[in-house]
Order: sequence, then C-alpha cells, then structure tokens
Amino acid sequence: MFDVNNIRKDFPMIVNNPNLIYFDNSATTYKPYCVLNAVKDFYENKTANVHRGDYDNSFIVSSEFDEARNVVAKFLNCDKNEVVFTSGATHSLNQAAQYGFQYLEKGDVILTTLSEHASNILPWFNVSKKTGATIEYIKQDKEGIIDLESFKKQMNSKVKVVTLAHVSNVLGHINPIKEIAKIVRKFDCILVVDGAQSAPHIKVDVKDLDVDMFAFSSHKMCGPDGIGVLYGKSEILNKLEPLIYGGGSNARFTSDGNILLREIPERFEAGTPNIEGVLGLKKAVEYLMDIGMDNIHNHEVKLKDYMISKLKELDNVTLYNPSADTGIIAFNVKGVFSQDSGSYLNNKKICVRSGHHCAKMVPNLINENDTVRASMYLYNTFEEIDRFIEALSNLNIESALDIFF
Ligand code: ALA
Repeated sequence: MFDVNNIRKDFPMIVNNPNLIYFDNSATTYKPYCVLNAVKDFYENKTANVHRGDYDNSFIVSSEFDEARNVVAKFLNCDKNEVVFTSGATHSLNQAAQYGFQYLEKGDVILTTLSEHASNILPWFNVSKKTGATIEYIKQDKEGIIDLESFKKQMNSKVKVVTLAHVSNVLGHINPIKEIAKIVRKFDCILVVDGAQSAPHIKVDVKDLDVDMFAFSSHKMCGPDGIGVLYGKSEILNKLEPLIYGGGSNARFTSDGNILLREIPERFEAGTPNIEGVLGLKKAVEYLMDIGMDNIHNHEVKLKDYMISKLKELDNVTLYNPSADTGIIAFNVKGVFSQDSGSYLNNKKICVRSGHHCAKMVPNLINENDTVRASMYLYNTFEEIDRFIEALSNLNIESALDIFF
C-alpha cells in the first residue's frame, strides 16, 4: 500500500529538514538512502573501472553495471541493447538530434511544440541551421494542450522528425504520445520524446508508445546527478552516429584512421562511464518500481487536484494550467514578479522555481513572460499544500517586498 509517511522516512533530506517544503521536483528530486548507499558502497567497497580489468572488483562492478541496464530495460519495456547511458536527458536529446544532422536536408520539416525545454529545441535549431530543414510547431491551446486534429493536418511527407516532451516541464500535461505515434507511423518520419518529466512520474512503456527515441535523467527520479538514458529502437541506434568517440566504444582502430565501432549500445558510451551514477540509477529505478509507477502517479494526481482546487480559491493567484495531468503547477501572484514570489516562499521554507524554467517559448502560449512553478513528487503531502496555500494567501506586493527590509 502507498504510504507517504513511510516513503518520507526513506529520504534523508526530509528526515534532516522536516519543515522544509520541497516543491521543485521538476528541477531535481531528493534521493532515498538506498540510492546514496549504492553510491557509497561503490566507492567504499568495490571501486574499479568497468569492462576493463581482470580482477574481482572489476568483475563485480561490471556485472552490476550490466545488470543496471537490464533493470532500466525492464522499466522501459525494451531490449537492454536499446538502453544507452548518457550524462542526462540533455545529452540524450543531443545524441538523438544527431539523426537530423545525418539524414535531414533542405525542404525537410521538424515538427515540435512551443513548450519544449531548451534541451529538446536548441539541438534541433542547430540541425535546422546546418541542414536547411525547417522547424514547425504543433498547434497547442493556451494551456499547451495539443490539438491532435491539427497535428494530423500538419503531418505530410516533408515531416521527417516529430519531437516533443512527453510532459511539459512548465504546463504539466501528458502529451498523447501513443496517438501521435500512430499518425507518425503513416509517414517516413521518426518520433523523438523528451521523457525527463514523465519517466519519474508515470509508467512508460516505449514499445506500447511506439517511440523511436526517448530520453530521461536520473536526478529527476531519485537517482544521482550526471547520468541519464537514451532509449532508441535498435534499428535507429544501428544507423545513428555517436556524438563522442573514445575508449570503450570501439572494437578496433588502425593507423589509417579506420574505426570499427562496438555494437549498440556501447558504441555510444565512449570513455569511463559514470559508474556510481549507473549503480545509483539502478537502485532508484528499483525503488520506484517497488512502490509502483501507477501508485506514484495516483498520489501525485490527488496532490495536484487538491493544490489546483485550493489555488482557484485564491483571488490573488493566476493559474496557467488548471487542467494539468501531473503535479506541475504554473501560476503567478497578481502584481508580484515571479522571483519575488519565489523569495517570499523561500522565506516561509517553501522551495519553488520561478522564471522561464528553460522553456523560453512558453510565453507564446500562456501570454505571460515568467511564472512560479510548484512541482510535486511521491513524498509530498496535503499538509505541505495547506502550508503553501496559507503562505500564498498572504502574498501581495507589500508582503513580497517586506522580506527584503
Ligand atoms: N529541467 C529542469 C526544470 O524544469 C531543470 O526545472
């Protein structure tokens, strides 16, 4: 049974700071003891490089590293060879965009949305500049919800890449990836999905979604920083050029410059990998799967519904995504600059993020330059929301400025 009070005991940040309300989970998440212990155990008891040493600790760590790939494959429902370890979703999405540099040309179209995070639009802007392919935007309403009928009409033989977030990091809707994939499949086009805000919160089955590539970060799902995943269908990965070259990714190279790359996924993992990151991510994935992704999502939906209902009661608040599907809520307090709201809430021991949230085209949708974002996770509670609402109810331009004097 899902018991938030028990879950809270798993997180040292909560145990050590019981009065701090952490509502910035879309930026990064707290780590449970089991993840921290896995990282510590690697450094204290079995430090070694992977796949390079003929001694016990190297064998042990290599086998745990390989097992981590199996665990992530199970989490995503894919083959282990389709799991590439990267430094995070940004790295994964830059690797995915390599497809554009290789295969796109003038006249081709990349279809995306105005709510993308920088990491899933800047690489494609670069592809566009270098290849002459153009970027077009899928029609969305002012909450960022995709209009599937318009999307159908926008799809044609020129569209070679459709790329979008599974869940927007500002507007919190779950995009209809499965329906989008069905439409994309009618064309010679690939579907790339930024799963940074979905993989930590909802069950993801890449086979069922039928995506070609899917990216996410460990640190947003209770795992260590600096490690992430790019899932790619094997037929896509087999024709994708690696972003980086070096040791571990090649089988052979000769003085005339010939390189024989290793098979997927190792060919994408040049250099000593982030071993403690991979071992920590393995634990994080096991931890979340033990609790159950559906249980986590259900808890977050209840929190989100409660927060939205309470925010709607406040006359001083403008809410930008009242029909969000996940625990990501974007709002402003009328007449108060978003960062001043953030500082005021910080003064009340509440952590939120203010500004553009790295999604600098969102203002085109919501008609507001910057917002305050509260983003929740499995360890957040209704009591925390009550404290947050109480703090917001007293926030106005005077009280916001008071904290500076
Ligand atoms: N992508 C992270 C966020 O949305 C940093 O805050």
